[in-house]
Amino acid sequence: MRQSLVIANWKLNGNLKLVDDMVSALASARCSADVVICPPAPYLAALETATQRLNIEVGGQNCSVYSNGAYTGEIAAEMLAEVGCKYVLLGHSERRALFAEDDTLIAKKVQLAQQAGLTAVLCVGETLQQREAGKTLDVVKAQLSAVLNDVDFNRLVVAYEPVWAIGTGETATPEQAQEVHAAIRQYVATFNTDAASKLALLYGGSVKPENAEILFAQDDIDGGLIGGASLNTDQFLAICSAV
Ligand code: G3H
Repeated sequence: MRQSLVIANWKLNGNLKLVDDMVSALASARCSADVVICPPAPYLAALETATQRLNIEVGGQNCSVYSNGAYTGEIAAEMLAEVGCKYVLLGHSERRALFAEDDTLIAKKVQLAQQAGLTAVLCVGETLQQREAGKTLDVVKAQLSAVLNDVDFNRLVVAYEPVWAIGTGETATPEQAQEVHAAIRQYVATFNTDAASKLALLYGGSVKPENAEILFAQDDIDGGLIGGASLNTDQFLAICSAV
């Protein structure tokens, strides 16, 4: 039995008021899933301080491929860990598409994050064009294989996020999501059978209170990576309660 996990990815949204509102809302909620909030970096310390008495973890949305040095604007994995982060999102499709992050760079970031003691949340997923060409599993396996050869499975979460479902309101059907999640678990098993059975696999892409329960009920879906709906306290709590 795997522990359920729900991760909020605020992306480039939110403010200190949302930090306060979300912490207050979660403090009075009953939620059996583990909950992680990934705000923009300037809010990490405030969120970490506010959640110290709660069973909520904090994560970064990205980390640098460098550990230190003259890299203006970058944030090292060790720095995230030092301010209390336990997780970091890596390989999100927005980083891949908008910031030209490729599999090699992402694999290096995963290594640095894990060395810093963080759990890397590796995001994978196909575009609509790739799905329509029947390449979904090939794409996802290629994104995984770049990382899995040299990874600490104890500090890894995989999030399957079909690019066509992110922020579009269009969600993968539970069957579509389960099919890919099962394939991911089988593929991870070719690297490490034990790790595959324990690995938390999250679904992301227009998860809402209305579809969360049926998605999270699938055998190989252990929770969600939530974008837009994680900015609304009522919606996010409803999603956390759907696990
Ligand atoms: O990281 C979160 C995903 O990109 C999903 O975003 O829930 O707004 O579709 P969304």
